[in-house]
Amino acid sequence: MTDAPLILGIESSCDETAAALLRGRTIVAQRIASQDDAHRIYGGVVPEIAARAHVEALAPMIEAVLAEAGVGLAEVDAIAATAGPGLIGGVMVGLVTGKALALAADKPLVAVNHLEGHALSPRLVDPDLEFPYLLLLVSGGHCQLLEVQGVGRYRRLATTIDDAVGEAFDKVAKIMGLGFPGGPAVERCAKDGNPKAFKLPRPLSGTDEPHFSFAGLKTAVLRTFQANPHAAADIAASFQAAVIDCLTDRTLKALAAAPDVTALVVAGGVASNAAIRAALTGLADARALKFVAPPGWLCTDNAAMIAWAGAERLAAGLTDGLDAPARPRWPLDPEAAPARGAGVKA
Ligand code: KG4
Ligand code: ZN
Repeated sequence: MTDAPLILGIESSCDETAAALLRGRTIVAQRIASQDDAHRIYGGVVPEIAARAHVEALAPMIEAVLAEAGVGLAEVDAIAATAGPGLIGGVMVGLVTGKALALAADKPLVAVNHLEGHALSPRLVDPDLEFPYLLLLVSGGHCQLLEVQGVGRYRRLATTIDDAVGEAFDKVAKIMGLGFPGGPAVERCAKDGNPKAFKLPRPLSGTDEPHFSFAGLKTAVLRTFQANPHAAADIAASFQAAVIDCLTDRTLKALAAAPDVTALVVAGGVASNAAIRAALTGLADARALKFVAPPGWLCTDNAAMIAWAGAERLAAGLTDGLDAPARPRWPLDPEAAPARGAGVKA
């Protein structure tokens, strides 16, 4: 793989600053700086603080990655930077940095959709994963089922009509005072609980279209916790069980609408949840589908997935000009109709 192009990836769309150098499927060097400590006291990501932290962290991080790999910018073949969707201040920091490096070193720029980074990341770790596959994309900002038909080619089968699933985990953690970031805290707490202790709703389960909804579940957790303030572990376990039922029910519906897929893939921050992975593994086995879940660190935000998406786009001849816009919203399937009943977030 030494002939494969060397790609510098840059990620700054939320609260992780990350840079990576990738050659083929080999991660030559990478760094990820989480801003958890800066946001913890607010219980959520503060966009202005995030953008400032990216400004401080990014340039020295790129220098460190290049130094670790023992290469200069001249030896990099292309720069791949996240251009959205995400918190616009942070996206601009990474994209403008990528543009400046591309201009200074006269290298091609690939303006990467962060969601495409997640969507293609399973192919970074599994060379045998071929298109089309069904992707369950579950992160802090998104909850979607997509048929991944090829690089840049997505058919959205479902989205959330209110909260993203990671957002629901984060809010449940906040309700029960479990800490930040919420997903891993809820998962840890749920380990000691009984998933059948509380009967929580499974919103939209059983409906024809495979869309998601988590607002009602979150409200049910709030009421249950108010009535049972010492039952955090049982509530966390019951919440996680309800989420798993929603995800598997909706995934089965989407599979029926995508008969050509041969693999089920889960990606995005929530995909690092072991109980969710186990449930999806069982579902894929029962359907004789290949199942791919990237390792936990590749599920949460990182720059290796951006470099990989950049490499896939570069190989397909898809590069961008220095006028590539930073996009706070950027759907993978612009043709998809809004989900019925969806609020502004859809
Ligand atoms: O993909 P990601 O790192 O950032 C976005 O693009 O949103 O996803 C972050 C989300 C957060 O909501 C976080 O609470 C959730 O993923 N998350 C988890 C777990 N680890 C991270 N949710 C459930 N269980 C986990 N172990
Ligand atoms: Zn993400």
